[in-house]
Amino acid sequence: MHFQWYPGHMTKAKRMMQENIKLIDLVIELVDARIPMSSRNPDIDELGRNKSRLILLNKADLAEDKWNDEWIAYFKEKGFSCVKVNSKKGGGVKSIQSVIQEACKEKMERDRKRGILNRPVRAMVVGIPNVGKSTFINALAGKACAKTGNKPGVTKGKQWIRLNKNVELLDTPGILWPKFEDQSVGLKLAFIGSIKDEILNVEELAADFITFAKNSYPGVLADKYDIEEAGDSYECLKAIAESRHCLVRGNELDTEKAAALLLDDFRNGRLGRLTLEYPEK
Ligand code: G4P
Repeated sequence: MHFQWYPGHMTKAKRMMQENIKLIDLVIELVDARIPMSSRNPDIDELGRNKSRLILLNKADLAEDKWNDEWIAYFKEKGFSCVKVNSKKGGGVKSIQSVIQEACKEKMERDRKRGILNRPVRAMVVGIPNVGKSTFINALAGKACAKTGNKPGVTKGKQWIRLNKNVELLDTPGILWPKFEDQSVGLKLAFIGSIKDEILNVEELAADFITFAKNSYPGVLADKYDIEEAGDSYECLKAIAESRHCLVRGNELDTEKAAALLLDDFRNGRLGRLTLEYPEK
């Protein structure tokens, strides 16, 4: 399978980001806790140079907690602030404000020394499509968020959400394009649903997912679908179709439907908390 993005979209997104990043002190980068590396675009390190940096492992509820903690240690070691969150349920979101202050400590100290007092930290949320940027902004800002008006020096039309007297958040997140140096990154992005299934062969994708699950989480598919995991991946897909009564024309196995069902179960956490990649030691 081959994964491709459209260069036009990428250029536009990058231009927007370059424009907005000039206005901010802190980059809040969301990554998917199941694939913290593959869901990053390393360009952000260049774009966010000289900014305070905070990485959020979002959708932490869908990844194994042991690995969430390992990833936090990994990113901290690299000099980032890093915490896990579940933006959908709000888990970990409340503590973010203090994490933001902590991440910007040096900047605030510099300001203080230069006699700049009470200038709020300005932050922007960035991440690849579907990683949860809007959900996070909503969870953090809540419904009652006070939007501040345009300010001198700020591009017209940009809205800042005042989180408290110390922090303002740009209401439009920055879209980073995923970057695949190798196809395994593309495959992981496809597993979590970051690449539209319409442009993929869903059965092939499901078979690849089965291969991963059998190797990394043996027994998970057997338990969930009451099947044998012993055969090859396509045999397993057929077994899932059979066990879930996915049939066409009355009696033929509908492996395409089974593939969609399996991927949907995984993406929504119904196979349990699974992490797809692990930090390098
Ligand atoms: P984006 O702005 O980065 O493109 O992402 P968005 O907030 O639209 O979120 C994409 C999907 O991820 C949404 O699901 C959202 O509910 C889900 N999501 C965001 N954060 C979390 C999280 O921490 N945990 C879990 N489990 N899911 C999260 P959706 O299927 O598009 O919508 P819905 O069915 O949830 O309404």
